[in-house]
Amino acid sequence: MTVSGPMLLPAELSIVIPCYNEVANVAPMVVALDEALVGQKWEVIFVDDSSPDGTASEVRRLSQLDPRVRILCRVGRRGLSSAVIEGVLSSSAPLVAVMDGDLQHDEAILLEMLTRLQAGAEIVVASRHVEGGDNSGLSGHWRELLSNTGIRAAQAIMPHRLSDPMSGFFAIRRDLFEVLLPHLSGTGFKILLDLVMSAPRSVRIVEVPFVFRPRLAGESKLDIVVLLQFATMLIDKLTRGWLPTRFMAFALVGLIGVGVNVAVLDIAGACGLSFSWSQLAGTAVAILTNFLLNNRFTYHDRTLRGADFWRGLIIFVAVCSLGAVANIGIARMMLDSAGHGHWDRSSAVGAVVGVVWNYAVSSTLVWR
Ligand code: GDD
Ligand code: MN
Repeated sequence: MTVSGPMLLPAELSIVIPCYNEVANVAPMVVALDEALVGQKWEVIFVDDSSPDGTASEVRRLSQLDPRVRILCRVGRRGLSSAVIEGVLSSSAPLVAVMDGDLQHDEAILLEMLTRLQAGAEIVVASRHVEGGDNSGLSGHWRELLSNTGIRAAQAIMPHRLSDPMSGFFAIRRDLFEVLLPHLSGTGFKILLDLVMSAPRSVRIVEVPFVFRPRLAGESKLDIVVLLQFATMLIDKLTRGWLPTRFMAFALVGLIGVGVNVAVLDIAGACGLSFSWSQLAGTAVAILTNFLLNNRFTYHDRTLRGADFWRGLIIFVAVCSLGAVANIGIARMMLDSAGHGHWDRSSAVGAVVGVVWNYAVSSTLVWR
């Protein structure tokens, strides 16, 4: 690796790379950048969330060899989007590129992205879905289905035309980033979508094709929590931040709980349990699922562990039981006062009051 030190600084391009457990990938990543950006003034910022595999110390070792390499280390936090935001804020070049740290994004097109920005584009998206692009690196059919469904959902609510809004590989002008910053939701995996949906319709976006490579080392961090965060982010954008994100997350988990309740009720019934016992089993499993999901997702920044976990679970069960009583009581009251027949409306009001109650008390007593 050749370093020209001060000759190449200050940087014209800052590359921000979120990474979690990517220890085997960072050194090859720096070599790849060095080769792809010959003659350019660049810096790279790896944003690591205290990966247990020692990614941060590996980056530090590399920055001792090459001053263009930097580490931003976060403690007690997780999240791709927020890592990218903080990485961009810690960098200094007028142009910024964001890419994955697992070598799935082809660094060879960085130069073209840079040229496009210099030619007047405000955002350049590396797309798998334009002529010349390719998505073969997605691991398996269900990942592909998931990706395509997400793209369609995003395109349906987005005023901008974009073939690959789910891409995590893009470049942006810093001045635009700073304008959009206060409007970002910052949750989940999809920072590009977050940025574009916060941008005015007139923003100049250019797409360049790239081939999404398969992952060679380490593993993907996409899981159910990430999917829930994606849904929350879309709702946040649609409602323009009118409802608190955390409340929406809580309500979404509640909706999943209803599904779990019905499923368990059906299974228990099919196994010959009486209605009351089936209902009890359904409710118990639903409350437990909701607690686990809320703990990992809704309150991901306050996740309860050890003794706090059990204390929280006991209070949560009590809160939900009270919530259920209130829910049924209010529905009953509505039904009586509204007179005959308005079952749906009464029960919907009861459910809304129940969710608001559960949320308010959970936020203050369980995940305080
Ligand atoms: N700091 C930090 N914190 N980094 C994270 C976190 C986190 O909580 N979660 C994931 N990362 C890093 C990974 O280490 C990797 O460098 C990058 O973010 C992408 O994560 P992967 O787990 O490899 O994601 P993927 O391959 O499933 O999804 C990628 O492909 C999508 C296209 O389908 C991501 O790049 C998406 O942004 C992209 O849209
Ligand atoms: Mn990946």
